[in-house]
Amino acid sequence: MVFKELREDIAAYMERDPAAKGPLMIVLCYPGFHALVFHKMAHWLWERRLYLAGRLVSHLGRMLTGIEIHPGAEIGQRFVIDHGNGVVIGETAVIGDDVTLYHDVTLGGTAPSVDSAAQVGQKRHPTLEDGVIVGSGAQILGPITIGSHARVGANSVVTKDVPSSVTAVGVPAKVVMPRDKEKAREFQAYGTPSGDCPDPVLQTIEALRQQVATLAERVEELEDELEAKEDKQVAPAAKVRRKKVG
Ligand SMILES: CC(C)(COP(=O)(O)OP(=O)(O)OC[C@H]1O[C@@H](n2cnc3c(N)ncnc32)[C@H](O)[C@@H]1OP(=O)(O)O)[C@@H](O)C(=O)NCCC(=O)NCCS
Repeated sequence: MVFKELREDIAAYMERDPAAKGPLMIVLCYPGFHALVFHKMAHWLWERRLYLAGRLVSHLGRMLTGIEIHPGAEIGQRFVIDHGNGVVIGETAVIGDDVTLYHDVTLGGTAPSVDSAAQVGQKRHPTLEDGVIVGSGAQILGPITIGSHARVGANSVVTKDVPSSVTAVGVPAKVVMPRDKEKAREFQAYGTPSGDCPDPVLQTIEALRQQVATLAERVEELEDELEAKEDKQVAPAAKVRRKKVG
């Protein structure tokens, strides 16, 4: 069972990291994979209320990989952390299947100054549904939900729920475009669609931009024509006035 899961995890790295050259490389050289193995052990201990042992295993994992995953965090199948350094995943975070994180991502809590005893057992960290991709440096804070197959842009700060199958970017993060729900199910390395598969929404926006540019040119032409006509009408009137004065 555990070996089947690990085989699936390795296959997920092969599938999602264009730089992966073989399963052995992943087993030996991928800190994200190592952190996941440590987390599986730490979580197993945590669930059996062996809190100190769980925390120690997760601490060891953090020292060796630079990735901090609290042993209480729930993580689904085929979870990939690419590069990984600086990733922090909080105690009550929940991560679905086929989720991908890049380095320096925080799945953190908010309001750390609030009475910490009252927060025990409360959900304080985010939930990432299946297929979510989170770009490097993104901070996802609080007990919010990132809907399935959504993408969070690099360095974004997310403090509100994000719907399924959309892209959220910026500080604070805003949805920039809806995605085709079927296309969104396919994994795209770095969350970015490849050039030979253009996004239909972007294509529509581009077509609209071109139409607006054509209309603007036409309006300019009409304004020039109108101005020329007005000049012609003004010129004879001025001549008549000059004759009267003379
Ligand atoms: C968010 C992301 C997935 C969007 O990719 P995309 O679908 O190709 O989208 P586009 O590049 O067409 O961007 C759409 C809009 O969002 C903006 N945008 C994209 N990523 C952004 C980001 N991280 N922060 C702020 N704005 C961003 C673009 O400027 C563009 O805005 P515009 O229409 O006003 O010009 C991608 O930009 C991203 O951040 N991927 C993560 C990459 C990463 O972490 N790599 C690390 C690998 S080591």
